[in-house]
Amino acid sequence: MKALILSGGKGTRLRPLTYTGAKQLVPVANKPILWYGIESIVAAGIIDIGIIISPETGEEIKEKTGNGDRFGAKITYIYQDQPLGLAHAVKVARPFLGDSPFVMYLGDNLIQDGLGEFLQVFTEKNLDALILLRTVSNPTAFGVAKVDEQGRVLALVEKPKVPPSNLALVGLYFFANSIHQAIDSIQPSARGELEITDAIQALINQSQKVEALQLEGWWLDTGKKDDLLAANQIILDSILVNSNQGNVDAQSQISGRVTIGKNSQIINSTIRGPVIIGENCQIENCFIGPFSSIGDHVILQDADLEHSVILQSAQVIGIQQRIVDSVIGQRAKLAIAPQRPKALRFLIGDDSQIELV
Ligand code: TTP
Repeated sequence: MKALILSGGKGTRLRPLTYTGAKQLVPVANKPILWYGIESIVAAGIIDIGIIISPETGEEIKEKTGNGDRFGAKITYIYQDQPLGLAHAVKVARPFLGDSPFVMYLGDNLIQDGLGEFLQVFTEKNLDALILLRTVSNPTAFGVAKVDEQGRVLALVEKPKVPPSNLALVGLYFFANSIHQAIDSIQPSARGELEITDAIQALINQSQKVEALQLEGWWLDTGKKDDLLAANQIILDSILVNSNQGNVDAQSQISGRVTIGKNSQIINSTIRGPVIIGENCQIENCFIGPFSSIGDHVILQDADLEHSVILQSAQVIGIQQRIVDSVIGQRAKLAIAPQRPKALRFLIGDDSQIELV
């Protein structure tokens, strides 16, 4: 059994963060989204992992993630020149996959359930494809499945106007090698991509064994800002532990579950967990409220924030109003003079969003 993680793509929905970095490396609770997927695959006993990368962001993914040693896995990187669809990515990975069955995982998805049980069903039933479904309130925004009582998949529809069910396809699939001839038989869709849903539909049309299981736990597609904040909240809520490797002065108050990384200085501040603070941060005269993740080398002075993600080396200085539901990119600087400012001065990148409320 092999694994194929898709970490190419454009990441248009997370711009501007994804102009300069891969969306799969955007951190959730200070760990790249992609690494949760790798860990979950390794936990299911699969260690031969191929990762699809794009020419634009691939080097960064390779450099940060490495050859797999840190996960106890062997990682092979596979370039996909253009994001021509999920099924196209499988085609490009064919030399890596050979005739092995494989699990395919979308690198920007976070899935709570372990993979082991699904893998067992896929193997024992000798399926051609096993897809995972989750009930959603807005099925028109997803690939949706029509399933019979036995869990057999009857049809798949991409973003249907009239959904046949409220069961959306999750970014996790198990395939036998029969998927390759199914992919060879399909044409690009109206949006110019080779769709994995079309390839699975081709398997169904050939009466191959395609079944579905429903996810019990949460599933997050971190493609957009609010999804990213929701993922951050859930992960902080579920896995964060109390740990302090930094320096907290006597004037500061820490309550709830808070992780503070090496060499971080907390001065005259209140931190109310769950909160994670990376390494080498400087936090002075601040309030940091629940569900906040602060990356490495961040400077916060006279700032007040909660339910926010601050990426590494960003600075927030002298902002008296509370910052909420915000994502602040790497090296971004937000500062206001100590006196009430007479004017605001900005250097804001393309696609940035600023709300002064
Ligand atoms: P999507 O979120 O469907 O596509 P995208 O990354 O282009 O994002 P956006 O809609 O914001 O522009 O992709 C799901 C995952 O699959 C994501 O990790 C990127 C990856 N992917 C590839 O590796 N190759 C591809 O050809 C496509 C379409 C996606």
